[in-house]
Amino acid sequence: MTIRSTNPGRTPSPVGVHREPFGTTADGRAVERFTLTSASGVTIAVLSYGGVIQSILAPDRAGALADVTLGYDTLPEYEKDKSYLGALVGRYANRIRAGRFSLDGRDYTLAQNAGGNHLHGGMRGFNKAVWSVEPFEEHGESGLALEHVSPDGDEGYPGTLRSRVTYRLTAGGELVIDFSATTDAATPANLTQHAYFNLAGSGSGDILGHVLELSASRFTPVDATLIPTGELRSVHGTPFDFSTPESVGARIGADDEQLRLAGGYDHNFVIDRPAAAALTLAARLTDPVSGRGVDIHTTEPGIQFYTGNFLDGTVMGKGGVPHRYRSGLALETQHFPNSPNEPAFPSAILRPGAEHRSRTVYHFVVRE
Ligand code: GLA
Repeated sequence: MTIRSTNPGRTPSPVGVHREPFGTTADGRAVERFTLTSASGVTIAVLSYGGVIQSILAPDRAGALADVTLGYDTLPEYEKDKSYLGALVGRYANRIRAGRFSLDGRDYTLAQNAGGNHLHGGMRGFNKAVWSVEPFEEHGESGLALEHVSPDGDEGYPGTLRSRVTYRLTAGGELVIDFSATTDAATPANLTQHAYFNLAGSGSGDILGHVLELSASRFTPVDATLIPTGELRSVHGTPFDFSTPESVGARIGADDEQLRLAGGYDHNFVIDRPAAAALTLAARLTDPVSGRGVDIHTTEPGIQFYTGNFLDGTVMGKGGVPHRYRSGLALETQHFPNSPNEPAFPSAILRPGAEHRSRTVYHFVVRE
């Protein structure tokens, strides 16, 4: 089905949402794929399974399209996925130490699914849910509204959490992602999008030649289990300084304790913001060869820069090409890892009557 605006007098455009079946999960849930097209030439495919962004077609300097995100061709591969390729992540993006936290005098234990820690919402996080999806089209833009209800006790979390995420693709090539959530009991809530980018094209090689700029003068160093130590450390004079554009690979092999602990970059950066919750340019990523770029704006206080260090070539991706070591990188906008155990970090606790709201924008651009 292709949905098109019926506004009389509207100039026909390639904008629209195409909807099609994408198979049935092992436990019998029907999954759909929605393809958003825009006047910019950017085309994005989203699955109701995990709210996954399956593909992003973006033009280079010559107008040639490439799929710039990692993923799979089929649903069973997404059901097996352990790398969160393109998925929505919740209730809590990234790690919580030992899967434990206290809130309002009560102790909670969450699923421990990553070396004794809780990672990305647990054994079956929001990336494994089938979201209900409503397509929309307005003002020449196409989009999707996704909803998921996580029941009280899900993966150990308190309260029923109702999440809504919208993806809206603008005529200028921006994918605007709005996250919102409400709860009936106090709970940590930290939603993100876990797309991996390879702006030269998924399957074309590693991302070490990509050039990155991060609006971050500090990052949160980690221990051997990738839990932040609590320190906000200056990036100045370290391989973590991306305050001016630098290639991802230039210092990734440097003799640096933090790079050794994480096997590369896998760290939360503290975004320099003019005001709390201001939509701020957090990251600029460029493939200098093709000219494809993505600028990431967010209202979140942090961004996890992860260089695909756990990808090892054993899992096949789209077109039968394996996801090799460092063949994609993620820039996950978020509250800081382990915030429920770090009172000095911005709070990620959502309470009844309040609404969690955040926005992240991926702006796909061509740079000369
Ligand atoms: C995040 C984490 C990484 C890894 C990936 C998923 O980026 O920080 O350590 O778990 O997700 O593989």
